[in-house]
Amino acid sequence: MFASIILLLICIVFIVIQLKSRRPKNFPPGPPVWPILGNILDLSLENPLKDFERTYGNVYSLFLGPKPVVVINEMKTIKEALVTKGVDFAGRPQDLLINDSSEREGLVMTDYGSSWKEQRRFALMNLRNFGMGKDSMEERIHGEIQYTVDTLEKSIGKSFSPQNMFHNAASNIICQVLFGKRFEYEDETIKTVVQCFTENAKIANGPWAMIYDSFPLIRSLPLPFRRAFKNVETCRKIAKSLMNEHKQTRVPGEPRDFVDCYLDRLDKPGDRSSFSEAQLTMYILDLHFAGTDTTSNTLLTGFLYLMNYPHVQERCQQEIDMVLEGKDQASSEDRNNMPYVQAVIHEFQRVANTVPLSIFHSTTKDTELNGYSIPKGTLIIPNLTSVLNEEGGFRICIICNTGCWLERLIAVLF
Ligand code: HEM
Ligand SMILES: *[C@@H]1O[C@H](CO)[C@@H](O)[C@H](O)[C@H]1NC(C)=O
Ligand SMILES: *[C@@H]1O[C@H](CO)[C@@H](O)[C@H](O)[C@H]1NC(C)=O
Repeated sequence: MFASIILLLICIVFIVIQLKSRRPKNFPPGPPVWPILGNILDLSLENPLKDFERTYGNVYSLFLGPKPVVVINEMKTIKEALVTKGVDFAGRPQDLLINDSSEREGLVMTDYGSSWKEQRRFALMNLRNFGMGKDSMEERIHGEIQYTVDTLEKSIGKSFSPQNMFHNAASNIICQVLFGKRFEYEDETIKTVVQCFTENAKIANGPWAMIYDSFPLIRSLPLPFRRAFKNVETCRKIAKSLMNEHKQTRVPGEPRDFVDCYLDRLDKPGDRSSFSEAQLTMYILDLHFAGTDTTSNTLLTGFLYLMNYPHVQERCQQEIDMVLEGKDQASSEDRNNMPYVQAVIHEFQRVANTVPLSIFHSTTKDTELNGYSIPKGTLIIPNLTSVLNEEGGFRICIICNTGCWLERLIAVLF
């Protein structure tokens, strides 16, 4: 009897040791790992990761269920990974909630390869042509600001939450690039899109996404993450109908906006490229999402700070009045004469910290970082928060190469 209990215990210990997710050889260090669960119990929502970098260094590892994850902290090391060893770290994880809901199309979660390169080159070129980098963007912003000002004027004397206003403004500027049109703030279509996005951003950053990502076995259960798929489906339908509208009204060779450009590209006969209508639908959603939430949340945070620091607000106003000399609109050139305003805008971006853990990466081959070995296909989390807290080393546009027009948007808003 006694012997069989001992035997049973030994068996259990043996099984537990076998099940335990173990760090590969020379893998970055990290907290002890539980069998099956990994480090999921170490994570809490109030403080998602408990300052592990203090104990284990700038490059440390965790397990989401059985899945190894490497977290990278601080500018120098993040730059070493994402810039110096850019190609090694350029992949995107393909087995997370966010992959399954995008069905691999689009841009943001596309794995590193010829399709990503082709689509990304297309975006950089065409977003520039449609005003991500040119003066036409300024006109769009000025146009949209008029609606923002109207909204503010209507609410004089009342209390008012600017959240939807900023969301709508950011969304409309990107909609003009994509579809050549803006939506009224009351428009049901855009309300639906914004609502789906907001909800999905919440789901993606919440506990259910973490559970989905950690435990593949439960993915088909009817748990709250199903909602994310439904939201993507709703948005996809809307994007599709906008695309169909374009197909009926376009004149081939005379693009009015990003979607027309893409449709022109699809007309090119015969090559086996990654361009397709399904790809375009997801692409539209990616760009809209990437450009809307980031921008509007930064504005929201920025205005909160301005309310709290009226003397900063006043100094901005003085500088703007001095530079504009009675002109009623600021241009992007004026910005160069407003060093104080620019510094304040950078500070907005720093405190807003809208993408604290960046977008997850994954290694494209076996590689090394700070002397540790990281196998191909490891999930990589760049901790951008750690960069924002560093003295002096902050430039968000190194990371978002797509072109951040936020600075200009805010400069014009004042
Ligand atoms: C405050 C404004 C913004 C912030 C803080 C921001 C931040 C970021 C970050 C952290 C990434 C991940 C980079 C990586 O490691 O792969 C990213 C990617 C991206 N951003 Fe931005 N972004 C902003 C505005 C925009 C705008 C206006 C657009 C344009 C529509 C945009 C489009 C994208 C796209 C398409 C990607 C994916 C790029 C790729 O996979 O190659 N972002 N952004
Ligand atoms: C990211 O960096 C911040 C600031 O350095 C730190 O408090 C936090 O614990 C880090 N998060 C992770 C995931 O390492
Ligand atoms: C990513 O999503 C696609 C489409 O939904 C799916 O076919 C693929 O299996 C997913 N990748 C992984 C590794 O789960």
